[in-house]
Amino acid sequence: MKIAIGSDHAAFPLKSILVAHLREKGFEEILDMGTDTDSLPCDYPDIALKVGEMVAQRKADRGVLLCGTGVGMSIAANKMPGVYAAHCHDVETASMSRRHNNSNVLTLGARILSPETAVEILDVWLSTEFEGDRHSRRLSKIADYEQKICPSCCLSDKGKTVIFDHPLVQHKVSIIRDKNTSVKEFRELVQEIAGLMVYEITRNLPLVKIQVETPLALTDAYALEGKKLAIVPVLRAGLGMVDGILQLVPNAKVGHIGLYRDPETLMPVEYYCKLPGDISERDILILDPMLATGGSASAAISLVKARGGKKVSLVCIIAAPEGVSKVHGDHPDVDIFAAALDSHLNDHGYIVPGLGDAGDRLFGTK
Ligand code: RB5
Repeated sequence: MKIAIGSDHAAFPLKSILVAHLREKGFEEILDMGTDTDSLPCDYPDIALKVGEMVAQRKADRGVLLCGTGVGMSIAANKMPGVYAAHCHDVETASMSRRHNNSNVLTLGARILSPETAVEILDVWLSTEFEGDRHSRRLSKIADYEQKICPSCCLSDKGKTVIFDHPLVQHKVSIIRDKNTSVKEFRELVQEIAGLMVYEITRNLPLVKIQVETPLALTDAYALEGKKLAIVPVLRAGLGMVDGILQLVPNAKVGHIGLYRDPETLMPVEYYCKLPGDISERDILILDPMLATGGSASAAISLVKARGGKKVSLVCIIAAPEGVSKVHGDHPDVDIFAAALDSHLNDHGYIVPGLGDAGDRLFGTK
């Protein structure tokens, strides 16, 4: 188990005791995120956010945060989606915070607890398992809210479905649903919606610190670390989303997948597939505005995976529950991003209320 630990100045001595204790117990991967002395004041949020980030980004399995009372650490750490920090004064609370709340960060008050009690609490907290069951249901309500306020900042091993309820996205989706919207306006809005969605999807792209010389001074600044992205529209409607995304991420590589439905088997059949050569190193966004039955989306994902794609997400504008179930059933690791989740499919496989055939509406072919 990898443990990130941090304290402010008030709890620096307790941190040293707990780190030594953890080492003695055989925990080898201990990430000490500071502070490094008790003789200089240190603001607890700086440390809480560092440790919280390690846990939220799965760079550490658990976090331990210490300050005078433990309260400031708990308040700061719990601001981060994916962090479930439990502030504990006793062994019972620590145990319950694992069994019922699946807490992944423990906060302790160095001015409140004796070092012996702190050690006891830590041991129980580290060795107690989450009970799941009804508690998972309760926790998923918290996770749903986190996803709502920050769709892409929650990491999960299981694929998630994120519906973008941002007012600008919702407004534009309403216009493209309207059967009287012109082809020109429809096409422009699909690009805009795709761009707005990708703006949020790319929230966690890693940055590197660089130096920039402004006309006034040399300053620290940030640049994209250069994580590789690929976008893969499913022909033909997926093409409608490409330019909106490339405007924001101009260096993304673009693959293409063409699928048709075999009239006899009704199964999707590949007729075209051209992907970037280094697809296995890229984060891949498969684009298809309508996720209806999910048959072609699932086939497109399988195709990309068969050619080496590892981190695949599906970006659509309108999804039907049937399509979401199909894709998550076939590909539990894939995130689905959509601007709306509609009611159902009709007998012809169209999403209701939907917006009709996205390809026809984009290219004026009806
Ligand atoms: C520092 O004096 C103190 O405010 C801090 O350690 C902590 O108790 C805050 O919650």
